Amino acid sequence: MRILVIGSGGREHALAWKLAHSPGAEVYAAPGNPGTAQVAVNLPLAGATPKHYLEAARAAAVDLTVVGPEAPLVEGIVDLFRAEGLRIFGPPAAAAALEGSKLYAKRFFERHGIPTARFQACENAAEAIAALSRFHYPVVVKADGLAAGKGVVIAQDESEARAAITSLGNRLVLEEFLQGEELSFIAICDGVTALPLEPSQDHKRVFDNDQGPNTGGMGAYSDSRLLSALQRDQILETIILPTVRATRFTGFLYAGLMMTGDGPKVLEFNVRSGDPETQPLLHRLQSGLAEVLWAATEQNLHSQRLDWSPEPSVCVVLASGGYPGAYQTGAPISGIAEAETTGAMVFHAGTRQGPAGLETAGGRVLGVTCSGPTLAAAIDHAYAAVRCIHFRGAHYRTDIGRRGLSRYNEGSVGT
Ligand code: AMP
Ligand code: GLY
Repeated sequence: MRILVIGSGGREHALAWKLAHSPGAEVYAAPGNPGTAQVAVNLPLAGATPKHYLEAARAAAVDLTVVGPEAPLVEGIVDLFRAEGLRIFGPPAAAAALEGSKLYAKRFFERHGIPTARFQACENAAEAIAALSRFHYPVVVKADGLAAGKGVVIAQDESEARAAITSLGNRLVLEEFLQGEELSFIAICDGVTALPLEPSQDHKRVFDNDQGPNTGGMGAYSDSRLLSALQRDQILETIILPTVRATRFTGFLYAGLMMTGDGPKVLEFNVRSGDPETQPLLHRLQSGLAEVLWAATEQNLHSQRLDWSPEPSVCVVLASGGYPGAYQTGAPISGIAEAETTGAMVFHAGTRQGPAGLETAGGRVLGVTCSGPTLAAAIDHAYAAVRCIHFRGAHYRTDIGRRGLSRYNEGSVGT
């Protein structure tokens, strides 16, 4: 089976790596990165529109295309491939609007009785300021469109709320602030049913102890203890399955959840898998992925299962100096081979081959991923591997997974 992975980040390296383990799978990536090049054939692209991906898929005669990032989904890559008779795993553009517009998503939750934070949609700043009186502080102010995690402000008082409303633009959502444990619940969907992945937790702020601005994600871990069997069923029955049925959703459906005293509530949906959550999740996946994604495109998921290692896994992201603000690229990277001799898996995100070897090419550069018999062991292992890797300006959080350690009383680690 020839499988094409669309995208070029750490999530796509993890997808390509895992898919390449399936017997008979020949994996391609477009455009891919130096990491995917180790497990797949990177395809040159003349551009980055759905039409360019279609040309690449045709040129390589692929049997199945798996889409990593949201942008091509929102642009209709799935609609185009299907219209041309090509098999693709992902949601069509109409369903991708669940991620592309927060207003659309909130109205969808309301219509289908899906638990979420109380909210008010506002078409302009004046309306939003008038609506503030209906909320307690802190209040959450969200811009409507795709904003790579940067369109959300948690305003502590009215003056912060007014400033956020002014800076975030016209179409806004005001939302009740929810308290609880935040986690990522991702499911593979075939339009009728859903096969959930294990739970995971992201670390969105750039600095330790959740300080500093939001990023795409500075690290993640997966530990089955994040959710009980009862909670998993509740999430499937009240959030995932109603969405799959209402939209005939195909692809990865990612629910960003808050586990509140009042049960799980959706903060947001993404219509793709998480980055970096995919890296520790696929590190734990023991059964094949290609077979399952293929079955999903045949609406045959009910015949499939996923087998998981019971060992927790951790991914620590190494980022370029300055990220998530402005950063430089082109810094030589050393030590990946040493990190991998410890048994760590190093997923590439923002890397490229320069004239003198591997160098940085993006904000999030690498995702060092390990599993261990305990969460503490997985964390220790990941940081030992991280310390082998060097590039100018490199920075990373030193507390990935620490929340889990205190929750499970595993004590502290030596990082
Ligand atoms: P979003 O892009 O909607 O996922 O929001 C980004 C981040 O803001 C989330 O990961 C949460 O940490 C936080 N957040 C968003 N909405 C809420 C809410 N209603 N209550 C508490 N925190 C929130
Ligand atoms: N890790 C957050 C995301 O993929 O949106």
